[in-house]
Amino acid sequence: MDGGAQRITSPVLRERKGDARKIVCLTAYDFPFAEIVDQAGVDVVLVGDSLGVVVQGQENTLTVTMDEMLYHTRIAARAVKRALVVADMPFLSYQCGPDKAVENAGRFLKEAGAAAVKLEGGRNIAATLEAIVRIDIPVMGHVGLTPQSIHRMGGYKVQRERKRLVADARAVEAAGAFAVILEGIPAEIAGEITDAVSIPTIGIGAGAHCDGQILVLHDLLGLCTRFSPKFVKRYADLGRLAREAVGAYAEDVRAGKFPESQHAFSAAPKANHRTAS
Ligand code: KIV
Repeated sequence: MDGGAQRITSPVLRERKGDARKIVCLTAYDFPFAEIVDQAGVDVVLVGDSLGVVVQGQENTLTVTMDEMLYHTRIAARAVKRALVVADMPFLSYQCGPDKAVENAGRFLKEAGAAAVKLEGGRNIAATLEAIVRIDIPVMGHVGLTPQSIHRMGGYKVQRERKRLVADARAVEAAGAFAVILEGIPAEIAGEITDAVSIPTIGIGAGAHCDGQILVLHDLLGLCTRFSPKFVKRYADLGRLAREAVGAYAEDVRAGKFPESQHAFSAAPKANHRTAS
């Protein structure tokens, strides 16, 4: 495991602005994968609303609810010992005004074990972001290609309006965010934003100049092949491995090769049915 055992907090992450050692972030949505990601030394586990697409099989993230995000945050956070757990606020959980947003943000800390929340948007949500920070809930911003704005953007389109992007990132910083995700932004503009703000920038489809990177875990592991964005690097093909393993099991069952004698219980009772022979 890289990075030692020090618990990553939002101030620790904030301090890493400009470090030569980049900040490593990844999504996870359940206990086993959150445990793997944490044990591998990732700095931030984001329980992203991307679970709508990669776990629930939806077309986009707009249908994801607070209850679903609370459930996934709870089961992922339970596994994490070192990384900062950030819960993604779903569509309409913060856009309806600061009061509702503060209440919903608080639920992620109070009921689900997150240490921070993330919300999408720039100048348009700065006042809401500030209200959440004011009651001591750390907030990660997210500007550029913001998937909850898919209908305004007309699809998942790279965002190239330099002035607007810089202004949005600055607004998020001024509102008190401890870091900001830059998604779907040309590398050169992401570099400019990284130089323009004093908080770490975390890129996804935003080139190499950011202070850190994030990917969707299922994309990286080859578990979601429905969409294949240009910015994804697939480090494994777990989908193929899982299909092969399940196929081998099915073949064994049909051929009477599983279970074998070592998988069966003897008549003499033993304490633990999972380990007893
Ligand atoms: O929902 C998510 O997983 C995200 C990341 C891709 C940044 O917002």
